[in-house]
Amino acid sequence: MQILITGTSRGLGNGLAGFYLNRGHTVYGISRTANPGLDSHPSFHFLPLDLSDFNAVEEVLPEFLRKAGKLNLAVLNAGMLGEIKDMKDTSLKEIRKVMDINVWSNKVLIDLMYENLEHVSQIVAVSSGAAIFGNRGWNAYSISKAALNMLVKLYSREREETHFSSIAPGLIDSDMQEYIFSLDDDQRFPSLNRLKDQKSSGRMPSAAEAAEILAKSILKAHNEESGSFLDVREM
Ligand SMILES: NC(=O)c1ccc[n+]([C@@H]2O[C@H](COP(=O)([O-])OP(=O)(O)OC[C@H]3O[C@@H](n4cnc5c(N)ncnc54)[C@H](OP(=O)(O)O)[C@@H]3O)[C@@H](O)[C@H]2O)c1
Repeated sequence: MQILITGTSRGLGNGLAGFYLNRGHTVYGISRTANPGLDSHPSFHFLPLDLSDFNAVEEVLPEFLRKAGKLNLAVLNAGMLGEIKDMKDTSLKEIRKVMDINVWSNKVLIDLMYENLEHVSQIVAVSSGAAIFGNRGWNAYSISKAALNMLVKLYSREREETHFSSIAPGLIDSDMQEYIFSLDDDQRFPSLNRLKDQKSSGRMPSAAEAAEILAKSILKAHNEESGSFLDVREM
């Protein structure tokens, strides 16, 4: 299979790329920084790119996509959390930054895929339970994942030749959780204590473990209506 994954330098995207490469697939990876464990693999093709720099994306992504020709799967995984704090303390500038990478970069990428590829069979956007929980403090991140789910649903109505889904991957012991773990206890944000407890108990899957769980769910997603929001914990 030919697979595009965004955010391959670390965390879930890095684990997922390794998972597919180990099974003989070809992976096209995109992130701003290098990809430990992947860069020397002969079936790994890398484009260093800031996906929120839309002018740069329009300039360099078409050629990278045309090299791939067609894709069996694209996993829109790159994302950022932003700062955990109240909505009232979060500036529009901060919200826009999170929205640019978590939502709008995926719109630009999807449009360029249809312009430059012969075919893309399946598109999976990596979402989060935060899209629906609305826990205090998750401000721009929650808004961005809710918008991402709707973006995917809307594209699924237009593009019947592709199977779309947004999938919450469950918790992953990555840099994102490292940031949460580093925060001081704050009674305004009780959801953080639950995550910290889970991380310190060793029950939080590593990126490699989470990637294997997500890869299984990506296969199962075909049983669901295109455009659905799914959660690996319920599949
Ligand atoms: N960790 C969790 O518990 C958890 C739970 C639910 C959902 N998720 C979702 O899962 C996905 C992966 O999360 P993770 O925990 O693996 O995150 P992570 O460890 O912070 O990795 C994020 C990846 O996204 C890339 N990225 C970020 N901004 C980028 C930009 N502007 N341009 C290009 N690439 C960019 C990073 O690469 P560079 O920095 O090299 O560019 C990195 O490879 C995210 O969409 C996240 O929202 C995570």
